[in-house]
Amino acid sequence: MRRTPSPNIISLYSSMAVAFFSTAIFVSIGFLFGVRLPTEDYIIYSSIVLVVSFFLYRYALVRFIYNKIKIIYKTIGSQQKFQSYLKKGSNNVMKTVERDVAEWAINKNKQIRELRKMEQYRKEFVGNVSHELKTPIFNAQGYIESILDSDLEDKDFIRQYLEKANGNIERLESIVNDLLEISKFETGRIQLEMEAFDLVKLIKKVVFQFQHLVEQHQVSVTIHSEENKVFVFADPKRIIQVLENLLSNSIKYGKDGGNTDIYFYDLEEQFLVEISDDGPGIGEEHLSRLFERFYRADKSRNRKIGGTGLGLSIVKNIVEAHHQTINVRSELDKGTTFSFTIQKYIPE
Ligand SMILES: Nc1ncnc2c1ncn2[C@@H]1O[C@H](COP(=O)(O)OP(=O)(O)OP(=O)(O)O)[C@@H](O)[C@H]1O
Ligand SMILES: [Mg+2]
Repeated sequence: MRRTPSPNIISLYSSMAVAFFSTAIFVSIGFLFGVRLPTEDYIIYSSIVLVVSFFLYRYALVRFIYNKIKIIYKTIGSQQKFQSYLKKGSNNVMKTVERDVAEWAINKNKQIRELRKMEQYRKEFVGNVSHELKTPIFNAQGYIESILDSDLEDKDFIRQYLEKANGNIERLESIVNDLLEISKFETGRIQLEMEAFDLVKLIKKVVFQFQHLVEQHQVSVTIHSEENKVFVFADPKRIIQVLENLLSNSIKYGKDGGNTDIYFYDLEEQFLVEISDDGPGIGEEHLSRLFERFYRADKSRNRKIGGTGLGLSIVKNIVEAHHQTINVRSELDKGTTFSFTIQKYIPE
C-alpha cells in the first residue's frame, strides 16, 4: 500500500523547491545586473528561505488538515478522539484518521445490522401475537355462534360448547398474562423476593405436580441429588416457573418412555442446574433463537402439543433478573440439555 506523506515531508519538499527556485531567480537577477555576491550569501539566503517556507507550509498544511479532520471527527461524532489526535500531534495523521473512520464505519454497520434484526423481530412479533390471539378468539366465537344458532333448548349441548368457549378464553388469558409478564421483566418492573431454600425439595414438589404428564408420557424423572445438599438464594416462586417450563418441555418434547435427568454441579458461588432429556433434540439452526418470544423449533409437532413458545422467553427473563445465565445444548436424536446457574446460599 502506498504511504501517505506526512505534512512535515510535504512541507520539506515544497520548501526545498521554493528555496531552490527563489535562489535561482536571485542568482539570475544578480547576473543580469552584473552583481556577484559571495557563495556563502546565496547559501545563507536559500537556507533562510528553506526554513521560513518550511514553517509557513507546515503551518498552512496543518491548519488545513486540522479543519478538515475536525469536520470528519464531528461527522463521526467522536470529539474525544479528536482531542486525543490533537494531543498525539500530527505524525501519521492520515493513518490515525483512516483507522478511526474505519472503526466508526464498522460500528455503524453493526448498529444498522442490529436495528434491521430488531425491526424484523418486531414485525415477526406483531404477526405472532396476532396469530396466537386470533386462534382462541375465533374458536370461542365459533362455539358461541353455534349456541346462538341453536334452538337454545339442549342444555347439554349449550354447556359443552360454553365449556369449550371458556377453555379458549382461558388460553387467551394465559397468553396475555405471559406477554404482560415478559413486558414487566423487560422494563425492569419485577421485584424478586429472594430467600434461602432447598432446591432439591422445591424440584421434588414441581415433579410431583407434573405426575399426570410424567405418567401420560411414561417418562422417568431422576433428581441426581438429595435434600439438604443444594441450598440456594433466589426467588422460589420464580424458580418454580423456570423449573415448570424446563421440566414440562423435557417431558412434552422428549420421547415417550424416555428419561429426564436433573443434575447439580457445585460452582464456587453458584450451582449449575442441568435438565436433560434423551428426546429427538433441537436442530442447531434453532438454538440461537429458542429463547425468543413465540419461537418454536418444530412447528408441526408443537401444533399437536399446543405450546405458545413463550415459556423459554419467561425462563430466560427470570434467570437474568437473578443475574444468572441460561444455556441450551442439543443434538438431534440424542437429546437436549438446558442448564442455568443459581446463587448458592452460604450461611454467614
Ligand atoms: N427439551 C426439549 N426438546 C426439544 N425441543 C424443545 C425442548 N424444549 C423446548 N423445545 C422447543 O423449544 C420451543 C420453545 O419452548 P417454549 O417453552 O418457549 O415454548 P412452548 O413449550 O412451545 O410453549 P409454552 O412454554 O409457552 O407453553 C418448543 O416449542 C420446542 O419446539
Ligand atoms: Mg414450554
